[in-house]
Amino acid sequence: MDISGTALAFYGLGATAVAASAYKVHRRLQLSKAKHPSLAGHARMARRIASLVPFYEYGESRFFCSDGAPAEIADQRRAGFMRLAALYETRFRETTRRTAEVAERISDVQFTDAYRVPFQYSRYVRRHLKIGTFLQSSAGVTVTDLDGNRFYDLTGSYGVNLLGYDAYKGTMERGLGRTRELGPVLGPYHPVIADNVRRLAQISGLDEVSFHMSGTEAVMQAVRLARYHTGRRYLARFCGAYHGWWGDVQPGVGNPLPANDTLTLNDMSENALRVLRTRHDIACVLVNPLQALHPNGSAPADTSLVDSGRSAHVDRPAYAAWLKELRAVCDARGIVLIFDEIFVGFRLARGGAQEYFGVRADLVTYGKTVGGGFPIGVVCGKRELMKRFRDDRPADICFARGTFNSHPAIMGAMNEFLQLLDTPQVAALYDGIDERWNARTHELNKRLEDAGVPVQIVNLSSIWTVCYTQPSRYNWMLQYYLRAEGLALSWIGTGRLIFSLDYTDADFAAVCDRFVAAARAMAQDGWWWRDPAMTNKSIKRAILKEMIAERVPLLRGRFGF
Ligand SMILES: Cc1ncc(COP(=O)(O)O)c(C=O)c1O
Repeated sequence: MDISGTALAFYGLGATAVAASAYKVHRRLQLSKAKHPSLAGHARMARRIASLVPFYEYGESRFFCSDGAPAEIADQRRAGFMRLAALYETRFRETTRRTAEVAERISDVQFTDAYRVPFQYSRYVRRHLKIGTFLQSSAGVTVTDLDGNRFYDLTGSYGVNLLGYDAYKGTMERGLGRTRELGPVLGPYHPVIADNVRRLAQISGLDEVSFHMSGTEAVMQAVRLARYHTGRRYLARFCGAYHGWWGDVQPGVGNPLPANDTLTLNDMSENALRVLRTRHDIACVLVNPLQALHPNGSAPADTSLVDSGRSAHVDRPAYAAWLKELRAVCDARGIVLIFDEIFVGFRLARGGAQEYFGVRADLVTYGKTVGGGFPIGVVCGKRELMKRFRDDRPADICFARGTFNSHPAIMGAMNEFLQLLDTPQVAALYDGIDERWNARTHELNKRLEDAGVPVQIVNLSSIWTVCYTQPSRYNWMLQYYLRAEGLALSWIGTGRLIFSLDYTDADFAAVCDRFVAAARAMAQDGWWWRDPAMTNKSIKRAILKEMIAERVPLLRGRFGF
């Protein structure tokens, strides 16, 4: 090659390198635009910032006036808090004693206990308002603790409890009975599985089914199948959506490693669609239709209630239109559309989110309630996506097993559950389901408004979140007043209340009475006192200053604490 030929080759290489970097920069920019501006939308940054948050806590005096409340309000709050503490101490004595005994050896109990309220208040609250982790029994829509206290259950057992606890006691018992002769034999199937597969295929509108032990495993398998069949690497999910605790679907805080093969996109956004339309390396889009309640928001736990910024709003037609757009883009680009219906499946409608929003997915995961009270994860999918081997390349397989998959007792209970779905009693529960739950929400909201408390409910059918209508640092206290009124909440407190469909109007009226009484008591104890100048923004700014002062003690005086 002569000199001019060599130079040309260099220019050519240079031009290719520049074009490649320009393409990379363009792709990066496009992805940045398709992210939600919140920290949840920026997983790496969220992890970095989380690692900088220092621990500090409010002492006895600041605990009651961290919002700058005057002394008489702080006294009022203290008196209310101590009254509540005395009530908890006597009413829940045995339950909390037994909890304290085991807590030291059960890390999960330590974790949930530490993360019920914002960390600045947590230790003080834990010292005085102890929450027991034991229950003795359930009946109808209630649960009873070790002290004999009956609570209306608003936990829904993480969403498993759709038809009412008594229904699952029946499905579990009959399921065990029907498979007793085979007992714990694993590998070969109990014949009951055939009817489960038939029913699930009919409900999902899909061809094949695989069984797993948890929702997390079902999602793992669906994503793995999508990657196997498309030969592509990336999983696209939407900001704030929960899909279990497996690393790839937990790209932000909570995962010790970054999730390098996950793209977290802005929900209901044209920029997100642009990314899906233009990239060639996206295997699947994972959708949790629960996000219709709070697009781009995560499970709204009370521990994050530092102000009243929690918001929720359901626009069913808009979310359905968004899913339709996603469907069309996935079709055009050969991307697998996965609906993760582990929570909302069977709850929004018999046919789940696919039926509720009128959009069909390529793979659907189910879990929770479909195990008839036992642990479960299910993937339903199109035949060509469910296949785990290739006829033309025998060594290229998509491996997925699990010792307890298709356990006879679970298959038995599942069959009992699926049969229940076809009974007139359960059909009646689905009949007018949204109208019923919307009317109930409306009724409680009206009563809360009449009571003059800054609390409102937003619901997606039987799934509720509590929102707060004026800025406050103390909204997380409501969970303790609700428990005192005999309402059982899950550890994320007022962020998610889940009703079983067997709630009668009378049960619901009792819940309303208690809810309003709790909110009233909290208001009377002064927790919602408010400096008119206080806003959610000003609260956040004050907390940020506290954190900076904690990191840089020299600044403490400057910020006035
Ligand atoms: C939408 C969704 N996907 C996956 C999971 C994980 O299921 P599991 O807890 O059974 O592993 C959950 C659990 O809450 C969920 O709500």
